[in-house]
Amino acid sequence: DKGNHRHFMAKEIYEQPEVISHTFGHYLDLAAETVTLPELPFDPKTVTNISITACGTALYAGAVAEYWFERFGRVPVSTDIASEFRYRETPLTPDGITIVISQSGETADTLASLRYAKECGQKVVAVVNVPTSTIAREADVVLPILAGPEIGVASTKAFTCQLATLACLAVAFGRAKGVLEEADEHKLVRAFMEVPRLMTEALKLSPEIEVLARTLAKARDVLYLGRGSNYPLALEGALKLKEISYIHAEGYAGGELKHGPIALIDEKMPVVVIAPHDRIFDKTVSNMEEVAARGGRIILVTDPLGAAAVDVGAVQKLILPEMPSTVCPMVYSIPVQLIAYHTAVIMGTDVDQPRNLAKSVTVE
Ligand code: M6R
Repeated sequence: DKGNHRHFMAKEIYEQPEVISHTFGHYLDLAAETVTLPELPFDPKTVTNISITACGTALYAGAVAEYWFERFGRVPVSTDIASEFRYRETPLTPDGITIVISQSGETADTLASLRYAKECGQKVVAVVNVPTSTIAREADVVLPILAGPEIGVASTKAFTCQLATLACLAVAFGRAKGVLEEADEHKLVRAFMEVPRLMTEALKLSPEIEVLARTLAKARDVLYLGRGSNYPLALEGALKLKEISYIHAEGYAGGELKHGPIALIDEKMPVVVIAPHDRIFDKTVSNMEEVAARGGRIILVTDPLGAAAVDVGAVQKLILPEMPSTVCPMVYSIPVQLIAYHTAVIMGTDVDQPRNLAKSVTVE
């Protein structure tokens, strides 16, 4: 049932404030302002490294979480594509753990990666949406994301609920390792509790995005840029646009622009810049100046401070409320998803069932 929406994807985008509040409700003690996880089969305090592996959108959720585990837990993380991880024969030792992330819990390469990590003697945490799935059954501990059924082939609410779950796990690591103090945990939990409201605000950008999408729909290629934990969101934005609008898109870390992709910039190539006003914002401003100087059109997703600080060439701004940087990848997902959605609707593609794609990839 699509409710009042034209597509399941739209319904699932709009559901996010509600479903993510369930996810947080499950992993947070709201009164105590603490994270509460199920019992873990390892002591986070003694974990020396984390491998994260998944495919597609789930991989990008893992790539965001890498920043959180490293910042909150000071634990080294390596994030890898499951189809590479499973064959790479990377040496895994029992003092490390592996986290697999999968909406369906049936993705062949992710399952094979889980089995490889177990063979190496590691404990495996599965972050899954389908609790009865093979990955959930075989993992040592399951952290359900509680997003509810996701019908659209393009993953939306599963991504943000994966982020919410991983953020809670990262905070738990930070506390166990003594990197985060009790007061830091309270502050982060309060920030998490604001996410549903911030997402509701973000959804109000939809009409503006619909207008922007008319020009995007005419593009042959689109570049997405982000830095820090918003870099994986640039990758996710590009994936989403490719999947449902069939427009070629690429995501890059802002710092990589001058190492190659800048050669592609001209007035025909829109650049979506995902940049809240954080400690690396100034670096992104230089990227935008480089794009503007070559006639590139910019769509800047930012906050009021970021919007006020940018005064270059042709920039269209999508302005979100100010928020703590940890929650940015969750909330900024909304405009990123809406950009892909509205562009695809204008192109007239089959948004919920794009060509050549399956919801669950159970073969290699
Ligand atoms: O079910 P999974 O989360 O394991 O699926 C992984 C990918 O196949 C999936 O995220 C895919 O990239 C989506 N179509 C993205 O929108």
